[in-house]
Amino acid sequence: MSQRETWATRVGFILAAVGSAVGLGNLWQFPFKTATNGGAAFVAFYLIAVLLIGFPAMLAEFVLGRRTQRNAVDAFARLGHRSWRIVGALAVFTGFWILSYYNVVGGWVMRYILGSVTGAYFDNPAGYFGSVSAGPEAVIAQAAFLAIVVAIVAFGIEDGIERATKVMVPSIIVLMVALAIWVATLPGAAEGYAFFLSPDLDAMIANAGTIIPFAVGQAFFTLSLGMAIMITYSSYVGRDDNLIFDGGSVVITNTIVGVLAGLVVFPILLTIGADITSDTGGAGALFVATAAGFGSVPFGRLFGVVFFGVVLIAALSSAISLLEVTVSYANDNLNISRPALSVGIGVGLFLLGVPSALDTAWLAWFDTLAYQVFLPLSVLLLVIFVGWVIGKEALEELLSGAEDFRTFGVVWLWTIRFVVVLAVLLTLALGINETFLVEDAAFFDPF
Ligand code: PFF
Repeated sequence: MSQRETWATRVGFILAAVGSAVGLGNLWQFPFKTATNGGAAFVAFYLIAVLLIGFPAMLAEFVLGRRTQRNAVDAFARLGHRSWRIVGALAVFTGFWILSYYNVVGGWVMRYILGSVTGAYFDNPAGYFGSVSAGPEAVIAQAAFLAIVVAIVAFGIEDGIERATKVMVPSIIVLMVALAIWVATLPGAAEGYAFFLSPDLDAMIANAGTIIPFAVGQAFFTLSLGMAIMITYSSYVGRDDNLIFDGGSVVITNTIVGVLAGLVVFPILLTIGADITSDTGGAGALFVATAAGFGSVPFGRLFGVVFFGVVLIAALSSAISLLEVTVSYANDNLNISRPALSVGIGVGLFLLGVPSALDTAWLAWFDTLAYQVFLPLSVLLLVIFVGWVIGKEALEELLSGAEDFRTFGVVWLWTIRFVVVLAVLLTLALGINETFLVEDAAFFDPF
């Protein structure tokens, strides 16, 4: 087998991981989940979940990947626990599942860029969403998005992913800051900030049961956990890197972009007087409402292009990380070239995504299942493995390149052993309850 690839630079790894983390999860799901789950109360739970559960879980994935320098499935075998490969397989499967409908939404975003250039959605934002979100056109758009993803991954770690994300991530941040400054001048800005940033404590307590699973699920999704991405990316990292620093950089940057997304979206929505909780009551509605916003403010076309342009870049830099998971697994095990694997796996993804492209109800169902079941389950099993099965070895790996962080490391180990495991169990139970058992469980039917 040929020499395994590595990142050319440490910054390259961090940027690629940030590129993975910053995606539709931040720019699309985070605002609409915030809107439908009580505004700032959700934001507060989400931030706690990111810090207390997401960050430690991310380090667990980093440790596993770097220790073994293998793909997410074979990593377990390399550590002498062959039967645990099923957990890696679940993570890879979860990623594949998510990417199948993520590509569809990526396709919608491409259509919205075009629609911003031509002004096609200005007169009838809801009608436009209906026409681009489902049906043969959505299938074509999905294929176009996927083709770009496949092309980047085909070039490999250094020449493909690292090179692409080095340009993409800084552009996302600069453009989001520019957009945030622009929307600050809109008349609905103050109201938008208030909705997003001032939590109502009573509402938080009253709705904790429903909000927590969403907040934790969102934390996993936004940090690209439970889908084998961070295991895979860190398997190309050298022993002397400080994983704690790298993980911290990813978490902080990702959170900043999420917050920026809220600071951009809510002022726009309140400027056009959208009834946030119902008008954004879902994935599609958020597209409709933001598009309506661009249709009615000065320079709307330009800002529409920039906004959906940023969303596209973010979606691409995430999707490549997820395609890389499966390509890496296949590349480690088969004697087939990377470009051929990328194309082959891309075709499989396309086929799995077709139902979601034809019917948004499928997409919502795929998303719900991923959020409420696959992601938490996969994270749960991963942290049990890292915390309980290889605990000491995991700690040693975390401290390689971070020798001065022993106390942090010990706290981390106990956090993943107890706090993360319990929190994820709770999330999983509440999520399954909400999704399958509660009557009227169609609360997540966003379309
Ligand atoms: N962290 C990514 C996001 O927030 O969009 C999660 C992700 C989803 C990564 C889908 C990759 C992907 F294909």
